[in-house]
Amino acid sequence: MTSEDFSQPETLIVSDGTDSATLSAIRDGWKIELDVPDEKDENKKRLLEAAAQAIAIDEGGRLEYWIEGVEISDDLVPIAAGYTPYRDLWRLSRPLPTDQSQLVTRSFTSTDLPEIVSINNRAFSWHPERSDLTIDDFEKTMEEPWFNSNGLRIWELNGTIQGFCWTKIHHDLSPIQGEIYVVAVDPDLQGGGTGTQLVLAGLNWLHVNDINQAMLYVESNNAAANHVYNALGFEHEVTNRAYERFIR
Ligand SMILES: CC(C)(COP(=O)(O)OP(=O)(O)OC[C@H]1O[C@@H](n2cnc3c(N)ncnc32)[C@H](O)[C@@H]1OP(=O)(O)O)[C@@H](O)C(=O)NCCC(=O)NCCS
Repeated sequence: MTSEDFSQPETLIVSDGTDSATLSAIRDGWKIELDVPDEKDENKKRLLEAAAQAIAIDEGGRLEYWIEGVEISDDLVPIAAGYTPYRDLWRLSRPLPTDQSQLVTRSFTSTDLPEIVSINNRAFSWHPERSDLTIDDFEKTMEEPWFNSNGLRIWELNGTIQGFCWTKIHHDLSPIQGEIYVVAVDPDLQGGGTGTQLVLAGLNWLHVNDINQAMLYVESNNAAANHVYNALGFEHEVTNRAYERFIR
């Protein structure tokens, strides 16, 4: 098994010529993706262990490995390789249309950025990926081909933005699906029904744009969000599970 540092310093590949693990730098460590053509558990375990060894030879750190559409038995391999399950992301879905939102929302404009970044960071202060974002981070996402300023619904009260619902249309899926990508309400206003109405505004916008199926990803332990989604008729489809291992 060899490990090579490729031209991009943020990527490390561990390979035996057949199976490989690609380690990509993320904000708090390395994310592992396995390529094991025969899908054998033994080979996956060996690669997860080799990834940990590669990081140990480097300067240590945190490794993160995701299994999409996880089954209970899938825990065995990462646990045997020294990784611990620590985060479940649920994919929920529901057909459209839904009820009409009672909020009048508008499209995003670039002058909204400081306010929505501020709401985002206060609402997601606990979140592993969505906390501490900068205007630059938002602008990078907005450069992605799917971005549509009309699909980022803004709700303001007395000239101040109180929350937003950011949607994303997946044209590559069949049938096409619309995602509730991010929804956030100013923490000072949470619990008063705004989140529910903002999600509805996003779903209404998707349906007006000919989308008949909605989906989203939510942390399994995000009680408030799950309460809202459940009340709006979203149903669990699959669980993506993250495992982590710390190498010191
Ligand atoms: C999720 C979020 C958008 C909901 O906004 P909101 O304005 O509080 O939503 P609502 O007031 O419409 O509904 C919240 C519901 O959750 C319930 N709730 C709040 N905290 C809860 C908890 N810890 N456990 C269970 N239910 C909870 C409320 O009682 C309310 O239910 P009700 O309408 O039956 O009374 C908001 O909490 C938020 O911005 N969170 C941070 C960002 C986030 O997690 N976004 C979702 C990511 S997928």
